[in-house]
Amino acid sequence: MISPILPVSRSEANPGASGLVEALESGSVLVFRDLDFPLDAFERRFVERPFADGKAKNVSIRGESAALKGGAGSDEEQARLRALLVRYRHFAQDLIDTYLPAYTGKVTLAGTSYRPFDVDKRKLSWRRDDTRMHVDAFPSNPIGERRILRIFRNINAEGQTRHWRVGEAFGDMAEKFLPKLPGYSGLSASLLAALKITKAKRSEYDHLMLHLHDALKRDLDYQARAPQADVHFHPGETWVTFSDLVMHGAMGGRYMLEQTGYLAVADQADPEKAPQRILAKKLGRPLKH
Ligand code: SIN
Ligand code: FE
Repeated sequence: MISPILPVSRSEANPGASGLVEALESGSVLVFRDLDFPLDAFERRFVERPFADGKAKNVSIRGESAALKGGAGSDEEQARLRALLVRYRHFAQDLIDTYLPAYTGKVTLAGTSYRPFDVDKRKLSWRRDDTRMHVDAFPSNPIGERRILRIFRNINAEGQTRHWRVGEAFGDMAEKFLPKLPGYSGLSASLLAALKITKAKRSEYDHLMLHLHDALKRDLDYQARAPQADVHFHPGETWVTFSDLVMHGAMGGRYMLEQTGYLAVADQADPEKAPQRILAKKLGRPLKH
């Protein structure tokens, strides 16, 4: 089965919204077509040309009071871009509180980014090529028993969609790739942490996710032939998904905002739906920490 795309309208902000959490945890992408996030006259410049130093992939803040990284423009412009990201962070928090109330107080917001570049036009190594379908995994930042929840918004001013491919269910993908992955070594994981190559010790889950990410991106035959569907997110649309569970590739589009959040597996409505649990079940044993 391919990841479902689930349109949500404003009227669904009611107690019945627990259905949204269920859908999200099961691997849906929720699409909100009519949420307001207006840019003012000054901010419109941020969707007319990229305010990025071009060195980093994105322009971002790590938290509400963090400095803007990767930005460009005058001091005033960078301060306003930073303020825009802080506002988007609040918008993302409101979305969680309104539509995913079961997660209120449980999702920890991490980075917020402004992505002005066309995903197509950046020449990247295969590992960093996000046009290839993958699940998200962070090489230096072990995730452990947390989930990656992402809230995206297309802010393109010229009508251009953000074009994604979404792929098959995580379990079906894992079935094909798990047997090909190298085994986990707690010793090497401790070494990577001691050498500060990783910020914390990589768990077996992190090891598997990194190798899945790479194996998926390297496999051009899988990329071409695996079950998949094109999705176009229109300007003004906001979409929410667990990017560690939903197979995705970004095929085109520019000017997007993105908020990352972390949720403990134990705080899910149904922890059994987490990729951590799916992988353990496929292996027939608990994963090593
Ligand atoms: C990704 O997480 O693969 C990138 C998503 C996007 O840039 O649209
Ligand atoms: Fe991704």
